[in-house]
Amino acid sequence: MRLGFLVALSVLSVLVAAYAVGVYGFGPGAANLPPAFRENFGRRPLAVAAHIFASAAALLLGPVQFSARVRRRWPAVHRLVGRVYLGAAVPVGGLAGLYLSWFAFGGPVARLGFGCLAVAWLYTAVRGYAAARGRDFAAHRRWMVRNYALTFAAVTLRLYLSLGHVLDLPFDLSYQLISWLCWVPNLVVGEGLARAARGPAADRR
Ligand code: HEM
Repeated sequence: MRLGFLVALSVLSVLVAAYAVGVYGFGPGAANLPPAFRENFGRRPLAVAAHIFASAAALLLGPVQFSARVRRRWPAVHRLVGRVYLGAAVPVGGLAGLYLSWFAFGGPVARLGFGCLAVAWLYTAVRGYAAARGRDFAAHRRWMVRNYALTFAAVTLRLYLSLGHVLDLPFDLSYQLISWLCWVPNLVVGEGLARAARGPAADRR
């Protein structure tokens, strides 16, 4: 993965993870969100905490895995970080996200959007893990590119929320749109990157 792209990915991921941990770990939590959000989150504090902290860890750990230098020089780091990402961060964040999507703000459209995102996130993680266990590293790489494209929905969601605010769209309409927009285009881009990684220059560890 090109350095500039990886740096941009890492900076955005760190900013959103810092926002999530700052607001929900040390800040006001859901206090500044619309009342329906607050009520929903107040009823499920454990699922909210599990989702936010585990997903923020996934967001932070992903870019480390895409560094060819880390993979080449410190393969043990790649394996350890991969175990935490696939063994804890995505399963805990994804299952809690799937549970929360059932109650999400924005009605059935948003619930289905976030639910499908959660299922796709968990599915790509299982395929990525199985490929690594089977020592099919080309397939592992492709599944993990798709998987992180979905993790990155946390970043695109917040970019689109700001855009909805600037365009002065009603919040519930923009939230319904964003529950799909935050991940479907990411998956298309991830698919393009995964296919490009099949080229001769690909790192086929
Ligand atoms: C990729 C799979 C993900 C799914 C399926 C998912 C799903 C959800 C759902 C359903 C909610 C509750 C929304 C509502 O009640 O209306 C939520 C909220 C939240 N999620 Fe995720 N999420 C995912 C990834 C992430 C990641 C990677 C982060 C990392 C920071 C994250 C951080 C948050 C935060 C901070 C909230 C609280 C809402 C806010 O303050 O903006 N999520 N997520």
